[in-house]
Amino acid sequence: MPTQEIRFSLPDIGDAEVSAATRALTSGWITTGEECNALERELAEYLGVEHVVAVSSCTAALEIAVANLGLPCGARIGMPTWTFVSTAIAPYHRGLWPVPLDIEPVSFNLCPTALAAALEDGLDAVIGVHFAGTPIAEEIHDLCRSAGVPLIEDAAHALGASDHRGAVAGQGTAGCCYSFYATKNLTSAEGGAIATDDPELAAFAQSFRLHGLSRDAWARYTPGARTGSYDILGDGLKANLPDVLAAVARAQLQRFPTLQQRRRELALRYREVLAPIDGLRVVPEAPSPGSADHLMVVVLPEGVDRSVVQKQLGEESIGTSVHFQPLHTFQWFADHGVVTGPGGTPVADEHAERVLSLPFHTRLDDDDVDRVGEALRRALDG
Ligand SMILES: Cc1ncc(COP(=O)(O)O)c(C=O)c1O
Repeated sequence: MPTQEIRFSLPDIGDAEVSAATRALTSGWITTGEECNALERELAEYLGVEHVVAVSSCTAALEIAVANLGLPCGARIGMPTWTFVSTAIAPYHRGLWPVPLDIEPVSFNLCPTALAAALEDGLDAVIGVHFAGTPIAEEIHDLCRSAGVPLIEDAAHALGASDHRGAVAGQGTAGCCYSFYATKNLTSAEGGAIATDDPELAAFAQSFRLHGLSRDAWARYTPGARTGSYDILGDGLKANLPDVLAAVARAQLQRFPTLQQRRRELALRYREVLAPIDGLRVVPEAPSPGSADHLMVVVLPEGVDRSVVQKQLGEESIGTSVHFQPLHTFQWFADHGVVTGPGGTPVADEHAERVLSLPFHTRLDDDDVDRVGEALRRALDG
């Protein structure tokens, strides 16, 4: 009998999402409109935050949050080197200069010591990444506040996470940017949002996501709208979230607490199954109560060839991934003169070849987790 494939990631799409998409598709209004407005209201209520503005991706959300800072061209923005390329390229597109910084070895989040040194050296803004769903340390917020430097949250992994503020939702920061990409805890295939308690950022995002228009199409063309005219408030993006995708996201949000509960159960089961494997470490080492449980990342024992382990798991029909290849190791950054902050990135460098992301999604059952654990043990035993 062929072995059942265990995919690295699988969207949890059911009847509710299908009927939501159908509802939007057949409503007579398929781009940004009432579904998107409703998603923003419902997500804001779920998070307990004043404003949510839905956009087409987390990358767009980050670019909008950076644009809102109004920093001059060439301003320096720090971020962990351990992140997806969007964290650096979104600000680069707004003329900012990325400064990749080291991480701390437990959560793989931005290292406070590395950040303090970089702030001393001169930074104009910071993006903190809640890696794998573990919220960044309160110390990172404190350091940015004391230095008077705005902190943007890359929460692509962190919808459902909580920290010292309650739900991770942009309270006291320059915006919290989520992703609804296909692999994320809540997905609409593609999509994202910015959460904030700052009405000015919310208004800016509302306009900047749609060419910088003063009024979106829903406000201009729906029956009862007074006039179809608008003004241009800025050099905005085309990054609105269409109603078809917003409807899917709303259906996912209804199920979100159940999905998150399942993620937590799976994370705990993985930890149990992996604990006896010699030299293997889970990131973070102990379960973090506020985590959104987005990924199951392990650090392989020293000297193990990751590509061999991935190949062997692949032969057993088990998909894996790598989160992340550090930013500063990509050729493009070197070619464009991007250099790491003071002190370099020793922790990231030490782990760059050793991390592996195991299958992690809500369609896994407990036996799948056991099978991945056994296959990994066999692969490491050689
Ligand atoms: C840490 C991080 N930031 C940003 C993004 C970009 O998200 P999106 O695909 O919604 O633009 C990702 C995507 O995986 C990510 O992992």
